[in-house]
Amino acid sequence: MKTKAAVLWEVNAPWSIEEIELDPPKAGEVLVKMVASGMCHSDEHLVTGDLPANIPVIGGHEGAGIVQEVGPGVSWLQPGDHVIFGFIPSCGKCPSCSNGHQNLCDLGAAMGLGLQIADGTSRHHADGRDLSLMCMLGTFAHHTVVNEASCIKVDNDIPLEKACLLGCGVITGWGSSVYAADVAPGDTVCVVGIGGIGANAVQGAKLAGAKRIIAIDPVEFKREKAMEFGATHTASSMAEAFGLVQQLSWGTMADKVIMTMGVGDGSVLGEAMALTAKRGRVVVTNIHPAMETSGAGISLLDLTLMEKQLVGSLFGSGNPRADIPKLLGLWREGKFDLDGLITKTYPLEGINEGYQDMRDGKNIRGVLVYS
Ligand SMILES: NC(=O)c1ccc[n+]([C@@H]2O[C@H](COP(=O)([O-])OP(=O)(O)OC[C@H]3O[C@@H](n4cnc5c(N)ncnc54)[C@H](O)[C@@H]3O)[C@@H](O)[C@H]2O)c1
Ligand SMILES: [Zn+2]
Ligand SMILES: [Zn+2]
Repeated sequence: MKTKAAVLWEVNAPWSIEEIELDPPKAGEVLVKMVASGMCHSDEHLVTGDLPANIPVIGGHEGAGIVQEVGPGVSWLQPGDHVIFGFIPSCGKCPSCSNGHQNLCDLGAAMGLGLQIADGTSRHHADGRDLSLMCMLGTFAHHTVVNEASCIKVDNDIPLEKACLLGCGVITGWGSSVYAADVAPGDTVCVVGIGGIGANAVQGAKLAGAKRIIAIDPVEFKREKAMEFGATHTASSMAEAFGLVQQLSWGTMADKVIMTMGVGDGSVLGEAMALTAKRGRVVVTNIHPAMETSGAGISLLDLTLMEKQLVGSLFGSGNPRADIPKLLGLWREGKFDLDGLITKTYPLEGINEGYQDMRDGKNIRGVLVYS
């Protein structure tokens, strides 16, 4: 069939809206009519080259849609089912899935190539060339074919144009606080960078019982929004936050510091460590450029003498098949704000405008809505 998708043909080029040829699903695969996709900063890393991609690539990994057709062997999904994609697939069988770490499923190893999990080929084609898929999903499109391992079935009354955000940003930010940082009641927490990820880290910290949440972002609008999501204080930089945290904590500093800036920067990690208490933890959720392999300006002596911890977090360090329904339940109870995360919606053709708005700090999340 023919459909429309946003394709990146080269690094540092705009997204190009193309009519593409989409093959039917093969064994273990599903054809999905997309409803919406969030515009996460991780797709921007493909554009800048900070995250290497198998170009040409269809972008997008924070999507939701309605199953149209299932390939042979897919027994638990049928046409009409509503699905949110996990940006990391989960097979349910590998050691990580078996240990309660679906975010580290072995199938994730295939993400670099972005081809179909089952046979390493492509269902998406344009101009006689095979297209790869961001996170093996390609949600910047009206339709896509993905492996069943990427699908999480949700109730048909869930509004997918909002719930698409659970495919990445919500779970990543919330889990960075709740699982990776292990925020405990009474903690002082700093969240550095209030975009789609950081806003959810703030919400996670609040739900986990943090006493103080200091939201740090240079953009005033982001700081205002952070207060709506549950922050108790704001600062425009980590340097500005230092004195504030010192004062608020009587010099003991923050129990948890969660890094959710647009582009990770090793040179500011020293400041993050300085904000952190004895036995406190810095969580690195933001993506650092792949070529940045040195220059993290931190005192390693601090790790020993103060027993500080520096940990990474992928997809909120949790289990999307359990966490997505859990967060939707909190949303249904009015305990989790999904609506407030969406600043503006765009058609697929508005994708470059949407990403410009993200660069300009105008959106918590911009969302592409397809019909
Ligand atoms: N680990 C994961 O699983 C995972 C998943 C999704 C996204 N990410 C990454 O998380 C990061 C955030 O993504 P997003 O979609 O929320 O981005 P975003 O662009 O929507 O938000 C980033 C925010 O950081 C702020 N910022 C930039 N420099 C800053 C600084 N020096 N100090 C404080 N704030 C600063 C910006 O003003 C912006 O508000 C990206 O690097 C993204 O690739 C990681
Ligand atoms: Zn993302
Ligand atoms: Zn697995």
